Amino acid sequence: MRALVTGGAGFIGSHVCEALIRLGYEVIAVDDLTTGKPANLNGLSMQFIITSSTAPKVRDLFTRGRFDLIVHLAARNIISSSTDPYGDFHTNVTETFGILDLARKSGAKVICASSCSVYGQADEFPTSESAPMRPVSYYAASKICGETYCEVFRQLHEMNITVVRYSNVYGPRQHIGVVPSMIRKTISKEQIEINGDGSHVRDYTYIDDAVEATMRLINVSNGVYNIASGVGTTTLELANTVSKVCEAPLNVQHVNERSIDNISHRVLSCTALEKTTNFKCQTNLSEGLTRTVEWWRSENSLAY
Ligand SMILES: NC(=O)c1ccc[n+]([C@@H]2O[C@H](COP(=O)([O-])OP(=O)(O)OC[C@H]3O[C@@H](n4cnc5c(N)ncnc54)[C@H](O)[C@@H]3O)[C@@H](O)[C@H]2O)c1
Repeated sequence: MRALVTGGAGFIGSHVCEALIRLGYEVIAVDDLTTGKPANLNGLSMQFIITSSTAPKVRDLFTRGRFDLIVHLAARNIISSSTDPYGDFHTNVTETFGILDLARKSGAKVICASSCSVYGQADEFPTSESAPMRPVSYYAASKICGETYCEVFRQLHEMNITVVRYSNVYGPRQHIGVVPSMIRKTISKEQIEINGDGSHVRDYTYIDDAVEATMRLINVSNGVYNIASGVGTTTLELANTVSKVCEAPLNVQHVNERSIDNISHRVLSCTALEKTTNFKCQTNLSEGLTRTVEWWRSENSLAY
């Protein structure tokens, strides 16, 4: 079995590569290293190509053999989308289209990463996959566009494409975002900055659970699935838990909200995932943060 992982040197991508190798796949990762790190793939026996998702080197891979699976994770994140919306559009829309087209020719199953951002400010919690999509960022718009092309390719070409809407995934090897920022600052006894009053609620999902859910969906035909813990945590509760796990005093400074902090509450329903795969996220926030802090304190984090 041959698998291509785009964004394979990224946070989720590197864990996905590891899991696919464990399942017996021959894995090829591509990543342009916008945010990914080659060190994330240290020790894994697989091929890694530094290039963008649909570059000629990637198209060549398809002429040299069929892929059974493509896990499309390469993307610009919400932070960079706000300063470089064209870059966001190119990576998250044009290259997603290109990957779907390559998958069509190869007959590969596709798992395409989307995001809980597609819901915007939802009316109902936990939010299920059938809730309306209300984009309020370039990133959410580009993810919805990617999902829409998945639906069109499914219908026009009878492809097997599963969309996964991840929610605030955290864990070892993540170096961008609220969780790594809080951990780094707490370990080094610096003040944590919280944008706003800390009352925003998010659904934090530990990486091992996110990857296990993704692996279970390989053998599921089509569909759109939330991958989340289903548990809401405020930013202040997150900061408190980080400081407890680090055994350090809570040291918080409130600063202005950013334009991307425009969603006050987010908790996702995991019923569809559970019904289809019999899998439910296992790791509570305190356990997940303990493992993440251990990693930050280990020599593995020196490359970050
Ligand atoms: N981590 C989360 O909480 C979260 C939540 C929702 C959705 N997602 C989605 O999951 C996927 C993986 O996210 P992540 O958290 O691992 O982020 P990440 O930034 O660590 O991974 C994305 C990877 O894609 C690479 N990349 C960017 N543009 C590329 C291009 N044009 N060609 C090839 N590679 C490119 C980056 O270098 C990076 O390694 C993304 O699609 C993201 O939108 C993540």
